[in-house]
Amino acid sequence: MLFNRTLLARASAVFLLGTAMLAQADTATVQAWPDRSAAVKVDAALEARVEQLLNGLSLRQKIGQMTQPEIRAITPDQVREYAIGSILNGGGGWPGNNINATPADWRALSEAFQIAALEATPGIPLIWGIDAVHGNNNVRGAVIYPHNIGLGASGNAQLVRDIGRATARAVRATGQQWAFAPTLAVVQHVRWGRTYESFGNDPALVARLGRAAVEGLQENLAQGIGVLASAKHFVGDGGTRHGTDQGITRATPEQLAKTHGAGYIATLDAGVQTVMASYSSWTDTRSATPNGKMHGNRELLTDVLKQRLAFDGLIVSDWDAIGQVPGCKNDDCVPAVLAGTDVFMVPFEWKRFIDNTLRAVQDGRIPMSRIDDAVRRILRVKLRAGLAMDGKVRETDATFATDADRALARRAVRESLVLLKHKPGLLPLPASSRVLVVGAAADNIHNQTGGWSRTWQGHETTNADFPAATSLLAALRQRLGSGNVVFDADGSREDPAKFSAVVAVLAEKPYAEMAGDIGLTSSLKHSRRYPEQLAALQRVAGRGAPVVTLLYSGRPLDVNDAANRSDAFIAAWLPGSEGAGLVDALVAPEAGKTWPGFSARLRFPWPGGPCQFSTHPDPKATGADKPWWPVGGGLSGFEKTASPAKALPEWPEPKGICPVL
Ligand code: GLC
Repeated sequence: MLFNRTLLARASAVFLLGTAMLAQADTATVQAWPDRSAAVKVDAALEARVEQLLNGLSLRQKIGQMTQPEIRAITPDQVREYAIGSILNGGGGWPGNNINATPADWRALSEAFQIAALEATPGIPLIWGIDAVHGNNNVRGAVIYPHNIGLGASGNAQLVRDIGRATARAVRATGQQWAFAPTLAVVQHVRWGRTYESFGNDPALVARLGRAAVEGLQENLAQGIGVLASAKHFVGDGGTRHGTDQGITRATPEQLAKTHGAGYIATLDAGVQTVMASYSSWTDTRSATPNGKMHGNRELLTDVLKQRLAFDGLIVSDWDAIGQVPGCKNDDCVPAVLAGTDVFMVPFEWKRFIDNTLRAVQDGRIPMSRIDDAVRRILRVKLRAGLAMDGKVRETDATFATDADRALARRAVRESLVLLKHKPGLLPLPASSRVLVVGAAADNIHNQTGGWSRTWQGHETTNADFPAATSLLAALRQRLGSGNVVFDADGSREDPAKFSAVVAVLAEKPYAEMAGDIGLTSSLKHSRRYPEQLAALQRVAGRGAPVVTLLYSGRPLDVNDAANRSDAFIAAWLPGSEGAGLVDALVAPEAGKTWPGFSARLRFPWPGGPCQFSTHPDPKATGADKPWWPVGGGLSGFEKTASPAKALPEWPEPKGICPVL
């Protein structure tokens, strides 16, 4: 389409004026952030197209573009009727509410929604957001990669970038164009149920790996190969008091910017196109000002993110998060619109949201300039996203879950494992070993994958829901021969002395978000929450065969009692679908190859007692408050001396609860 020069000039002027118009507040909060210019240079032709499309929309259509329903709550006909601009499927949202929906089913639903959207607003496809946070993890048959806590332990930015690229292809292959990833939380308390979504407690690491994730996800975005990424959750989600999900982060403006904001500067520099606002709140400890919910914070969403940091993409709210803003409901929140959010994740009450927001514009509570800013950003992001203008999904199963993806995930598993205890020479186990496997989790895929895996919470599934995944047990049988691997889930049946080694698996029950929070006074001791798992270990420990124990967990835990009953202890985090990656670290490689040992290191301190929740423990801490390992800890497996040198102290839990710090 040819643009006349006048239109081009006017569009550029509107864009630049719009940017200047939102006069930047000059407060301590704003000044704490670097003054940066936009990473993506202005494309005058694209901006002209944005203006052209914007001018063709009615007010109701503009608000439709700002509304994001859940696929279980809207039909293609309604997308057409309301000119809906984007949809999402939450964890556990599948086409036809069918967990077994195939990639072809996902593509068919995407096309139905897209064709309806293009009929309503020609030239403006919709964008479908999905929580592809460790692969295309909602979809049956997907390759599921280690969660971010494991990738953080690997410290390998190229690996993270490669996973982002592979995830983008897998997401496009099911008809979505937007991944709600990466999480950029810099976790301060491992009580938080989302600790595993974080790369670590170091802002520089989160910035480096978060940037790599966005570069991978958005690679070749304009060509329709990459997907939109979402830097989330802005800002301070990992800093809430006591690690309470959706709680209050108490920080000075500088701490907020330099600790919790580090990932956003890096991903903005990488051209991230969307930012998801955080459920959490911020209290400025410098001025003792409770600034309240992020979703109502205009100073941070607009003055900082859109102005000071020159972010020209779109801000999306979190699931019904606007309902938590004082004075708001899920379907009605003028403060959140005024604060600067552009796309509203209103999964179910979206019709009333549209009506209420329309009324607020009509009666002057929301200026038209705010609506136009939001829709301009939405259109800009869509035009940058290489969206098909005919509603068709060109991808096929061919790029959904390739052998190369599985090999990448397998390597990521091995590179994520942290060796915390080792008797020299025990690992790698000889390929001729006859092994006893204990621990129910050894053959339970969902313990490997954790939350955000086929369902939101991740624990309602069975192995049948992961048809292409490999459990540790299956991988050991593939590697050592079925006849050389015996599974005795609770360790009560077999005599360990008849085996060359025992492989024991401990695990947390999968969880997501607040469901994973460890309460204020509860302990971090794994055996307090899972006594039956320690019992299984106790049945086989010290009975004539060395014990190699792996822990599947979303965070560091107090495992002194289990480690004392093991000859090797490995933090495996939440490794995902490729159990073979675990065996690559446990068993000697085929002839001619060298065993790689363990390259991953801790990105959170590992507790030495039941009440260590902070990821920044007192360096002078002693006794039960002294970490077993500091950040950076971990063994290579090649050490000549045993570590730890002696048994770890098994601290009693003080009066059964942890003091509230
Ligand atoms: C959730 C999470 C967010 C996710 C969104 C959509 O509540 O906070 O990370 O992307 O809802 O599922």
